[in-house]
Amino acid sequence: MKPPRPNLYRDTWAGEVRADHVDQEVRVAGWVHRRRDHGGLIFIDLRDRTGLLQLVFRPEEAPQAHAAAHSLRSEDVLTARGRVVRREEGTVNPHLPTGEVELAVDEIEQLADAETPPFEVDSDKQVDELLRLKYRYLDLRREQMRDSIELRHDVVLAIRNYLNERGFLDIETPFLTRSTPEGARDFLVPSRIDPGSFYALPQSPQLFKQLLMVAGFERYYQIVRCFRDESSRADRLPEFTQLDMEMSFVEEEDVIGLCEGLIQAFLAAGGVDVQVPFDRVSYADAMLRYGTDRPDRRIGMEIQDLGEAFAQSEFQVFRGALESGGVVRGLKAPGADLTRKRFDELTEQAKQFGAKGLVWAVVEGEGWRSPIAKFLKPEEMSAVASALGAAEGDAILIVADTADIAARVLGQLRLDLAPPAEGNDLLWVVDFPMFEWNEDENRWDPLHHPFTSPKGEMNGDPGSWASRAYDVVWNGWEIGGGSIRINRPDVQQKVFTALGISEDEAGERFGFLLDALKYGAPPHGGIAFGIERIVAMLRGSESIREVVAFPKAASQADPLTGAPAPVDQEQLDELALKVTKPKE
Ligand code: AMO
Ligand code: AMP
Repeated sequence: MKPPRPNLYRDTWAGEVRADHVDQEVRVAGWVHRRRDHGGLIFIDLRDRTGLLQLVFRPEEAPQAHAAAHSLRSEDVLTARGRVVRREEGTVNPHLPTGEVELAVDEIEQLADAETPPFEVDSDKQVDELLRLKYRYLDLRREQMRDSIELRHDVVLAIRNYLNERGFLDIETPFLTRSTPEGARDFLVPSRIDPGSFYALPQSPQLFKQLLMVAGFERYYQIVRCFRDESSRADRLPEFTQLDMEMSFVEEEDVIGLCEGLIQAFLAAGGVDVQVPFDRVSYADAMLRYGTDRPDRRIGMEIQDLGEAFAQSEFQVFRGALESGGVVRGLKAPGADLTRKRFDELTEQAKQFGAKGLVWAVVEGEGWRSPIAKFLKPEEMSAVASALGAAEGDAILIVADTADIAARVLGQLRLDLAPPAEGNDLLWVVDFPMFEWNEDENRWDPLHHPFTSPKGEMNGDPGSWASRAYDVVWNGWEIGGGSIRINRPDVQQKVFTALGISEDEAGERFGFLLDALKYGAPPHGGIAFGIERIVAMLRGSESIREVVAFPKAASQADPLTGAPAPVDQEQLDELALKVTKPKE
């Protein structure tokens, strides 16, 4: 950082004092990070944005400053002036950039008092998350938090630079708008002017960026907040930030190629180097081999279809599943030393994921140790062992069910049993279907959003229609997703119809888009990346809340401000709102 303008408080960043400052007078300001009183000498680690600097107070050289230092406490705010001196041999701290020097303080002024913080700011001890969020301004003083927020800035800056060099314009789109369906619930904002009407906060700027392409901007991006009323999880937040992009006159290869360079650039900002191009895996292949559309291929343990091995099986569970159009699939947990108790737990877990049961087996000699070994023929066991590459002592887990449930259950078990993975796995998932069947609602839902262009013909069963969507997955996290869009009103209406949205309803909800598509909409496509997921993965954080300055808690509440909170009757009246179910 450039040095600050010298003023009352400081002329030098504390964390940037080095050996070449020795013998210079400097003034620094910040917080008392830690204080050590050695009777005679007092040491204070002073902290500012840039880091730590050791201040030393000597009673004989600066009695007044020494006396003042005596009463300072953690997190008090001060300014200090003194002379930079070399630390004595043996007291150099190689872990600190300022570790070769210290500031022999002549003069000190306390600028603010701090009460004892509810948790230690100078340590990385585990602290209850709700307490951290309530005192987020203190939590953000901790080194890991500051590093995360700084990295987030660096990643965003790398993105802006990369896109700026390629002619992308940063254009803002409204927050008070109509619903933009991305598969989550909307956050609604009641209108005062038009009682009974509501704005929806955008789940993404999807429709506006398409309108910007109709408008002819060609290359758009925005680092933008999106709102989705879903509960906060490790990889999801009710409000989060996207890098949202769109381009005109492009095919999949244009977007994918540009994004590979972009991803390389923003990962490099976080110290991760990756090779391009990335592999591509089809959706069908991902679901079959990894049981998920966001595979982490660093873990081996691929799922195999075992239908052939059990085609003639006398074990009714397998035979029955196959005869009713289902699948029998399994995976190998290599050399896993799994006890009976552990297998029972896994079976329970499998049932929670929706399985009817779980067959487990351990390869022992020619046969299996398994509760169902007696129902299986030796050739079935050896066919399975060879399909899975299972050797003596390996565990095998098998699920018989519909393809969807088998994928979900085995995909989860695979992750749960996986050893910790190292390195980086980046890939594109491509060849998605347009829709997936929603059992509960008895209808088709878009696998992405309803503006995704179909690939090829839209004939017959909508479940067989393919889309021009692509997702990018990094170490098992979907960090971005996008598609080539529909740019013709008739095609858009056909998709709405397949989704059960009538022409009237489509006109009501999306008339502005259908209209815009009638006025010369270029072929266009784009993508959006989740900034928090990228930064959290770069930081190795467990949860994406770790890389947001002021995130909501898992409950969606904000322990800091107390939001959401009740409002005055007057405000409700103005909005013509009546709360029918008061909080208990
Ligand atoms: P999608 O819904 O896949 O696509 O979102 C794009 C990316 O945003 C991130 N993301 C989230 N991050 C944190 N919390 C959430 N609740 C959350 N939801 C999504 C993910 C995801 O890959 N309009 C389309 C993009 C397009 O088609 O261009 C869209 O929003 O990293
Ligand atoms: P059952 O015939 O229900 O007593 O099940 C016999 C064994 O097969 C038990 O170990 C069950 O956990 C297992 N099992 C039952 N249904 C399935 C299934 N759909 N897929 C895999 N294993 C199953």
